[in-house]
Amino acid sequence: MQVIADPAGFRAAATSSGSPLVLVPTMGALHEGHRALIRRARKLAGSTGTVAVSIFVNPIQFDRAGDLAAYPKPLEADLAACEAEGADLIFTPEAGSMYHPDRSVTVTESLLSRHLCGATRPGHFDGVCTVVLKLFLLSGADSAVFGEKDFQQLAIIRRMVRDLDVPVEIIGHPTIREADGLAMSSRNVRLLPDHRADAPRIRQSLLAARDLLATGERSATALLASARAGIEGSTFAKIDYLELVDAETLQPVSEIERPAVLATAVFYGEVRLIDHLTLQP
Ligand code: PAF
Repeated sequence: MQVIADPAGFRAAATSSGSPLVLVPTMGALHEGHRALIRRARKLAGSTGTVAVSIFVNPIQFDRAGDLAAYPKPLEADLAACEAEGADLIFTPEAGSMYHPDRSVTVTESLLSRHLCGATRPGHFDGVCTVVLKLFLLSGADSAVFGEKDFQQLAIIRRMVRDLDVPVEIIGHPTIREADGLAMSSRNVRLLPDHRADAPRIRQSLLAARDLLATGERSATALLASARAGIEGSTFAKIDYLELVDAETLQPVSEIERPAVLATAVFYGEVRLIDHLTLQP
């Protein structure tokens, strides 16, 4: 396994390594969810291909300075996880080598990013699209694996690749959960013990709304009220957003007539957790 911090060095190593090259973009603090992405990449690359993992806490996608400063950076453990899962090439750039101080070009998606995280985290998806496109260009990846937990991110990256003719196949991998249902996230380790114990209610509240749908209730108002009541039953949880959107366009719906996504972001103190559930009519 090779670990490279310099973008030009990474480009050279990626270009001369075996194909296909499958990229797993991450911000580090790797957990079982990331490890599953790397394993998927290993399978896709086969024995002759290359699995590249980027570990970069991308400053331009953070909307809160405190969140960026508190983001965990356990590099040694991350490298050990990459090695254990069979990655070949690890890219660990510094922000200064990724972004020119006077950079003036940003990739913007303007439809799918209007709601959900896009509405409450201004500039977040511009930062994500910009860094992901740079990682695609530097690595020359044939395909890239992303977690479905960040479903809006995945939809926006697919749209970017479609609209800009980026020759990278995008592969989504199912959300990995803790035994109590909490979606795995690098932010979970920052939860206070009381908050961690309470956090599974996010998933449970989404599932309760799905149970209500199964009884024949299709109105967004009723389904959202059900999920809201579940989350707000906590003394700790503070809803950042809770929305029901069309699964394809990510625009709000008033009634479930086509597949829709019930999605939420919830603050526990300073820690913001996201989760979602697809609802079928
Ligand atoms: O999902 C993440 O960890 C990040 O948003 C990504 C895709 C690595 C871009 O920084």
